[in-house]
Amino acid sequence: MLNPFRYGGVVDQNAFCNRKQELRDLHRSMTQDERMFVYSERRMGKTSLVRLALTQLPEDYIPVYIDLWPTDGDESFVATTAKALTEAFETSADRMLQHAGAFFKRLIPVLTVDEEGHPQIRFESQRVKEDVKSLDEVLVAPERIAHQRGCHVVVVFDEFQRILEYPRDRIVRTLRSIIQNQTNVSYIFLGSRKHLIQQMVLDTASPLYRAGAHYPLGPIPTTEWIPFIRERFEQSHKHIDDPLVRDLCEHTDGHPFYTQHLCHAIWERCEPNCKVEKAMVESAIDLLLDRESYAYSALWESLTAAQRRTLLGLASEPAGAQVFGAEFVQSYRLQSASTVQSAIRALLDRDLIDRENGSFLILDRFFGLWIRRTSRQD
Ligand SMILES: Nc1ncnc2c1ncn2[C@@H]1O[C@H](COP(=O)(O)OP(=O)(O)OP(=O)(O)O)[C@@H](O)[C@H]1O
Ligand SMILES: [Mg+2]
Repeated sequence: MLNPFRYGGVVDQNAFCNRKQELRDLHRSMTQDERMFVYSERRMGKTSLVRLALTQLPEDYIPVYIDLWPTDGDESFVATTAKALTEAFETSADRMLQHAGAFFKRLIPVLTVDEEGHPQIRFESQRVKEDVKSLDEVLVAPERIAHQRGCHVVVVFDEFQRILEYPRDRIVRTLRSIIQNQTNVSYIFLGSRKHLIQQMVLDTASPLYRAGAHYPLGPIPTTEWIPFIRERFEQSHKHIDDPLVRDLCEHTDGHPFYTQHLCHAIWERCEPNCKVEKAMVESAIDLLLDRESYAYSALWESLTAAQRRTLLGLASEPAGAQVFGAEFVQSYRLQSASTVQSAIRALLDRDLIDRENGSFLILDRFFGLWIRRTSRQD
């Protein structure tokens, strides 16, 4: 029997828990031609959520999903966006070329066929190099297409924080002026560097200041996980009691990726027609931590004593710990608040922790568990 818990890739409706309010909010934003910045830490479920929302659009709304992860500058941004815009509207080779000719005059289209015989289009970037106008052309295309076809277009830019790493900031500067007055087009920007996206939208000096609503995506509440997890066990003739689900959600803070991963491991350990025991949860956690232990040990070794103690404190204290307070400093032998300050800065730079409600959290929930389990006090 197939393990009903999925982790790693984008999950579809069958493995998707709750997010009802978020789906409603996205649906509203998409169908009202709004702009929205959805951001969260890594693997919180942004892509899965937005892709599901795209499948629920009315017929006259055409989704265009653009993954900016592989892009590294203006040229690849233009080529990737043009490709997504063409493939969203056309499936036959002839029509793709026609479409490319009509909307992207400055780009050179190249048609290929994938393994299943479906045509795919790519845009050559040689001519893009010197051409500022090709960026404008690509950015005005969604509105032009929407008007020409008499439909609405929903453009999703996933991994939007990539554009901050481009050598030039032309796109950020151009984007706002071009998209702000477009009609019949909605834009959803997804980003996983929380503070960068926040800065982009909320900093008055940013070209994208208030260019759209900002929408932080949080964990899934335990009350939603309980029926979701219980049902999946039951459907495969296994059983888990609610208090155990509550326990495991506490271990993962309800973070979707870690929750699914842990459930996957627990499910494996439980035989059909049996009930999950507390010991199985513990041994599933041990197994997951053992798998990572080499990497975690190496990571741990690379940290300074103050950074380790700060992490130990964050892993041990309940959420919202006042890390600069005297009690924290004393309990974790950190000398002074300024010692904590520089440790926190270094940990933030290495993306090991993130800011959360006036405090900090360890991003990799299993690393947090590993620290607690091995209770590494140096
Ligand atoms: N609504 C959900 N219900 C159940 N599991 C979910 C849900 N959303 C996400 N997950 C779990 O989290 C994992 C990561 O989801 P997804 O790739 O959508 O997150 P993301 O925020 O886009 O990640 P990244 O920051 O890496 O782009 C999935 O593989 C799945 O295990
Ligand atoms: Mg994603």
